[in-house]
Formats: sequence, C-alpha cells, structure tokens
Amino acid sequence: MSSKPLVVFTPSGKRGHFEKGTSILQIARQLGVDLDSVCGGRGICSKCQITPSYGEFTKHGVTVAANALSEWNKVEERYNEKRGLAKGRRLGCQACVQGDVVIDVPAESQVHKQVIRKDASVRPVKMNPATRLFYIEVAEPDMHEPSGDFERLKIALHDQWEISDVELDFFQFNKLQKTLRQGNWAVTVAIFNDHTSTPPRIIEIWPGLYEDGLYGLAIDLGSTTVAAHLTDLKSGEILKSAGLMNPQIRFGEDLMSRVSYSMMNSGGDKEMTTAVREAINSLAKQLLMEVEIEKTSLVEVVFVCNPVMHHLLLGIDPVELGQAPFALASSSSITVSASNLGLNEINPSGRCYILPCIAGHVGADAAAVALSEEPNKSDDLVLVVDVGTNAEILLGNKSKVLACSSPTGPAFEGAQISSGQRAAPGAIERIEINQKTKEPRFRVIGCDLWSDEKGFKEAIKDTGVTGVCGSGIIEAVAELRMAGLMDESGLIGSAEATGSARCIPEGRTNSYLIYDQSDENGPQISVSQNDIRAIQLAKSALYAGARLLMDEMNIEKVDRVVLAGAFGSHISSKHAMVLGMIPDVPLEKVQSAGNAAGTGARIALCNISARNDIEASVSQIEKIETAIEPKFQDHFVAANAIPHKIDRFPELSKIVSLPNVHFNLGLENKTRRRRRKF
Ligand code: FES
Repeated sequence: MSSKPLVVFTPSGKRGHFEKGTSILQIARQLGVDLDSVCGGRGICSKCQITPSYGEFTKHGVTVAANALSEWNKVEERYNEKRGLAKGRRLGCQACVQGDVVIDVPAESQVHKQVIRKDASVRPVKMNPATRLFYIEVAEPDMHEPSGDFERLKIALHDQWEISDVELDFFQFNKLQKTLRQGNWAVTVAIFNDHTSTPPRIIEIWPGLYEDGLYGLAIDLGSTTVAAHLTDLKSGEILKSAGLMNPQIRFGEDLMSRVSYSMMNSGGDKEMTTAVREAINSLAKQLLMEVEIEKTSLVEVVFVCNPVMHHLLLGIDPVELGQAPFALASSSSITVSASNLGLNEINPSGRCYILPCIAGHVGADAAAVALSEEPNKSDDLVLVVDVGTNAEILLGNKSKVLACSSPTGPAFEGAQISSGQRAAPGAIERIEINQKTKEPRFRVIGCDLWSDEKGFKEAIKDTGVTGVCGSGIIEAVAELRMAGLMDESGLIGSAEATGSARCIPEGRTNSYLIYDQSDENGPQISVSQNDIRAIQLAKSALYAGARLLMDEMNIEKVDRVVLAGAFGSHISSKHAMVLGMIPDVPLEKVQSAGNAAGTGARIALCNISARNDIEASVSQIEKIETAIEPKFQDHFVAANAIPHKIDRFPELSKIVSLPNVHFNLGLENKTRRRRRKF
C-alpha cells in the first residue's frame, strides 16, 4: 500500500496517490481532471472550487477523515469574506491533500462540462470553447535587460500557463502597454486557440483579474431571416436570442433572384454584403444592450448559412453560384476576424468561424444540420430534411451520407399563397376538415382554442384571423385530400361534386373557403387551386430530392425521417405524409429536430473539437446535384400527385384512408366527346 494519500475525483472517477501538501488543483492537472482556473492558482479567481466529501466510500474503497485536507487558509478566508464561498466548498488551488480524500468537481468548475439543450431534443453540448481567459503576472521592464512588454508577456504565459508562440492580434498592440501598467503588471488575456495548427492568439487584454466572462454569437443566417443567439462561452447557456428579417430581401425574395441582382447591377453584391453585415451589427448591438455586456467580451461568432449567403457575408460575388457547375469560391471552413467582416459591434479581434459548405447548392447550414443531427453516426438509415426556401436533404447512416439541396421555393413559408402569411399571431397554423360535414375548424397562432370552441372570438379579439402560415397550408391541403374535397391530382371539386357549399368557383377552378368575415369588412381566407399548385411544386421538389438520394443509396425505404428548421418543427408529420412531402415511414419514426442548423452553430461555437468533426465529416459527405440529374425531373413529375403517382404509402394507409375521388372526370369526358366529334 502506498504511504501517499489517495485522491479520488468525481464525477470523472480519476484517482491517484500524491504527496501530502500537494494542492488539489495541481493534482487535478496531473491526472487530467477538468478543473478550471483563470488565475493559475493565486486564489483570486475562484474558478477552481471543489467539494470534498467525508466519511466511508465503499465504492471507492476510501475512508475520508475530517482532516483529509489542509485547514481553511487565509486566502480562502479572505475570499469567503469578500465574495462568499458556498457551504462545503473549498478553493482547489488552496486546499492541500493530507489524507485519502474524495473530491467532487461541480459542473461550474469544469471547463468541458456537458450542457443540456433546453429545447425539445436533449442532445447535450460538450463545452470546449476556443477562447479562454488566463491571468498572468508580467515582469516589469528593466533597463539593464531591455526587452519589449509583449516579449515579457509571452515569457509569463509560457512560465505560468505553458502556452508558447502566442501572437498578439493587431488591434491589441496599442492597448498592451497601457493595460499592463494599469494592471500593475498583472493582466488577464483572452486567448483564441484555433482547432487548426495556427498559433494561439491574444484577442483581448484587461488590467488585473477580469471576471466578467466571455461571450459568443451563434448566427443562423438564412435567406429570409437572421437569428442570433448570445451564448456564454463558459456555461454554454444562451443568454438571449434575437432575430430579424434578412434586409437583402429588398434585392430579391429568393437566392437566385439575389444572384441575378448581382449579375445585373454592378456593385450589387457589395450592396447586399453591406446590408447583411449591418443586420448582424444591429442584432449584436441589441443583444449586448439587453444583456448589459461590453462588446470587448463578445469574442467569437459562428455562422451557418447557405452558399449564396456565405459568399455575400464574406464579400464574395455569388455570380458563379447562379450557373453550372455552381463553383464555390471555397468550400472549406473559414476563420476571420470580426474587423475583416466589418462587424463593428463585436470585439474587432474577435474570431468569426464559418462552417464549411458541402457543395455549390448545399451550404454551411446543411453542414450545421449534419453536426447537430449526426446522420453519420446513426445505426439506422435516416433522412434529415431542413425545410426552408431551399430544402437541404441528408440521407445516410454510419457507413455513408449523401446530401442534396432542392428548390422548394417560398410556398412552405406561406409566400405565393393567396391567403398566405408568415408565422405570426393571427395566422391559421392548424386546421381540421370534418370528413362528413366538410366543415373546417382551425387554430391561430397566439390562441389555444379551436375556432369552434367557446370563447374563440373573444380570445382572438386582438389578433383577428389574418391568413394561413406554412404549417396551416400544409394541413389545409392534406385535410382537403382526406375529406374528399380534392383529388389525387390536386383538383378541388365543385360544390355539386363534393356536396360542400364551401367549394366556390373561381374562374375555371374551385377554391375552398375556410373563413369569411367579408360581411364585417374582414378577410376571406380560402385555399385556391393556384395555392395547391404552389404546394404541389414545393412538395414535389422536396420528395424528388429525397427520392434521388434514395436511388443513389439503392434503397426503397428509409428507417426514420427528421424534420428540421423552424417550419419543419411545426408541421404535422401525418399531414406532411398525406401530402407526400416525405417518404412513407411509421408516424412515430418522424421526428422534429427544431432549429437544427442553429443548434449546429451553437455546438461549433461551444466546442472547438466539433469544428474538426464537422470538417472531417463534410469531406466524407457525397453531394448529389439535383439541377443536373435527369432522374430528378421524373421523380418530380411522379411526386406531383397527392400523395404520389407511383410510390405506395403502406404505413400511411394503416392510419388514414384517402377517398378515391376524381374531379377531372367531367373535363376528361368533355375532352373525349370533343375528340370524337373531330
Ligand atoms: Fe483561481 Fe484557485 S485557481 S482561485
């Protein structure tokens, strides 16, 4: 038996024998236990707090005596008086081992802690931030041994933290001398340590001990909206989120119209770059103000975006992305300083990381979805669909992952729909049509009651019923099909053919009236034949993309479907399947992943090794280009029927039976009759 005391750490289970008098922080470092420290053991940062446990621990084979650790010392007393130490806590850098002991490292003292996501999916995020704080005491200048302040700071970092070859970001040079003297030769530096082989870089410097923390932004830069999540780089917690419409919309609703704007207008790309950078600056400013954080502590930004947004953010003309072979300027990940991107509401030396793109049509947003949903680690064959103006589609499992992007257009977001609107209070988001009476009932965003429930009118007094959002239109079209008001080809029947007075002629077609307040100068909300055509085009593009990947994989069935994106998480899987948006699987195998691209951005922001992981897995993902694949067109045409012309949906038919109605018969008969005449 060793005469040296045994130290056991929980939750890691790491253990070893150490000389009496060794500090717990030193032992933790030797054993590789994750115990934080900013001040390097000087007893001033309190990041190294631990909880010793006393008594009998049969599991560890240890009995811990009351005097297993050195007594509470002056440093701890002073700290406790000034700031307070929670009961039972000690400072790991001050408490020294005297006998066998069990030491618990609480989550807040770990650098690489697991953070559980708050939203529906509980995938944990492991903390391993790229930027960390280090407190150092730097030697004063000496006329007899002349050396620069930065050179002595480098020596201090090497001696006190074993960090070598550090670089000082250009913006910090003019601060260095003043800050060193202000801190009386003690400073805290924020060091960004890239996941590549680039040297560690000092990106901010504060006098004395800086304790206010470091922050980052995870930004999901979409063609329609920009969402930013202000994240604590120590805890991984999202402190506040904010979003706004992408101001580039004024140059074109969809990506291709923005590429054409750039082609047609000299300097158009620059205008769009400026617009999006201004939007990011205003989001950063708003978040910093709301959370009362200085911009100097906002040191990192991670972006996920589609290829066109990627180029415009970086100030690259996206013109090549508008034509085959859709060449990206670079598909690799990019790390640049905030000042390079013109982001002046972020620390100018702060680092911006843009995830790699998968291909010319499959961007960093799809890479972020892959990082969040990890199809490459799945045992079963999973289809991940991120539904937006473009659908990013990933199909794969442990052995192989394929990706493509499909141009679904804006119909799923409520655009190009006669009564369509974006998801906002007052928009119809759920709808049911009674299969016997053919009467609808619905729910609007901002109200929990159905339209036929008592109190509905009163509850929607402020918002009214204003239109139908993306999830509402999906349900409306699927419900029309289930109620026998619309046939497989997507035609709405007439009032005579369906027996519903809600089917109203509109030119040569019919529309279905959901809500009518025209008597009171209110809106008339209906689903028109053109709306159905727009949804058919969008869903056919989505299904054809998925089908193309299934062909490439040589399979007829997938095991599981994950719907990602803000819209993807709101749509009903049953209705999506009735519509034929996604391949047939048991309903319980359709999952919603929430904003997977945003989650991927947050993972990459909080964990530097995730950047390595995604770069490695993106290089393994096989890209399929829908635009040049002839089979895509065949799949697209076949997918026009609802749910599908050829593919069977056996799982769907277990739960839904779709009426066998045909509303084009009359028309066909007329055509046939006419043909006979001729
Ligand atoms: Fe800073 Fe212990 S390491 S107080």
